Amino acid sequence: MKVSFVDLSKQDHAIRQQLQQAVLGVLERADYILGGDVDELEREFAAYCGAKYAVGVDNGLSALQLILRAYDIGPGDEVIVPTHTYVASATAISLVGATPVLVDTDMRTYNLDINQVESLITPKTRAIMAVHLYGLPADMDEVRALASAHGLRVIEDAAQAHGATYKGTRTGNLGDAAGFSFYPAKNLGAAGDAGIVVTNDPEVDARVRAFRNCGQYVKGRHDLTPYNHRLDTLQAAVLRVRLQQLDQWNLARQRIAQVYSELLAGAPVELPPPTYEDRTHVWHLYVIRTSDRDGLKAHLSQKQIGIGIHYPLPVHLQPTFAELGYAPGSFPAAEQISPQILSLPMHPSLTDDEAAFVAESIRAYFR
Ligand SMILES: Cc1ncc(COP(=O)(O)O)c(C=O)c1O
Repeated sequence: MKVSFVDLSKQDHAIRQQLQQAVLGVLERADYILGGDVDELEREFAAYCGAKYAVGVDNGLSALQLILRAYDIGPGDEVIVPTHTYVASATAISLVGATPVLVDTDMRTYNLDINQVESLITPKTRAIMAVHLYGLPADMDEVRALASAHGLRVIEDAAQAHGATYKGTRTGNLGDAAGFSFYPAKNLGAAGDAGIVVTNDPEVDARVRAFRNCGQYVKGRHDLTPYNHRLDTLQAAVLRVRLQQLDQWNLARQRIAQVYSELLAGAPVELPPPTYEDRTHVWHLYVIRTSDRDGLKAHLSQKQIGIGIHYPLPVHLQPTFAELGYAPGSFPAAEQISPQILSLPMHPSLTDDEAAFVAESIRAYFR
């Protein structure tokens, strides 16, 4: 049995006609740049998150970068961000000229270790970027409490956690501003690159809106640096159709995670964090750990099971961040897990049989 890591085509099966109509609608209206579907998606996604504003942009990295620009965070400023994350979280900070100050991993959640954040705060710190990695919200009460005690902004990197909740509130509404990615394989993905900024702050909304469209608050007058980070209308049209499926897709992911966890119970691998009562996990990724990761990976690949590693190197060991000056050994938890982690196939159309085959193949390897 071949099991795909993701299957974007199968996932769209039930909505293919709606998607075609949405795309044809844009082709007919030819409102390709900042067309009606962009406005509608912004309204619908803000409402989905329970927030006031959303601004569509060209990808998740831009979303994070423009939030930082909206807050005038730049050279001389520091932003605290976990080292165990996709590189884009830290890249956004360095692209605006600020310094990413990295923090180690909480093994309980694989998110930032809140107990290590306060000691990293300096007079230069402007924000904490909390990443809801793999689909599980970070410890947001503690993040917000620290931020408010020190006058810092809270930025959510919600690229992997569309629809996840923390104490009943959805991601996108847990900090001052949130950046989402709509990379195709995300829980909500476009038919190409796309992203969105979500906030309750009218000034962030206005500044991100201006930054994404050549620095214009009003047409023809370029008040801010004239970047182009617009979201394509075609992508917005596709996203509006898929947004209607998001809750159902997340439920399917939760069911598959449960199947994995049941079938892998007692196997000699570390399962993902348990379900916490105060937050929901939307299982962008189902990540197990084993000290024999590369052996297991080769075994599963040979069985035609799609797997992934998120991520092979923490940010502080990525060559592009060498200038930050972190030596190996700086972040023991992140360095312990990165050679051990393995992401199993996870997508809403994965069947129970496929999940069972994956679990059985893992058990067979260790027998
Ligand atoms: C945690 C995280 N942050 C940021 C990004 C950047 O998003 P994008 O690839 O849309 O630029 C991604 C996704 O790739 C991500 O997983």
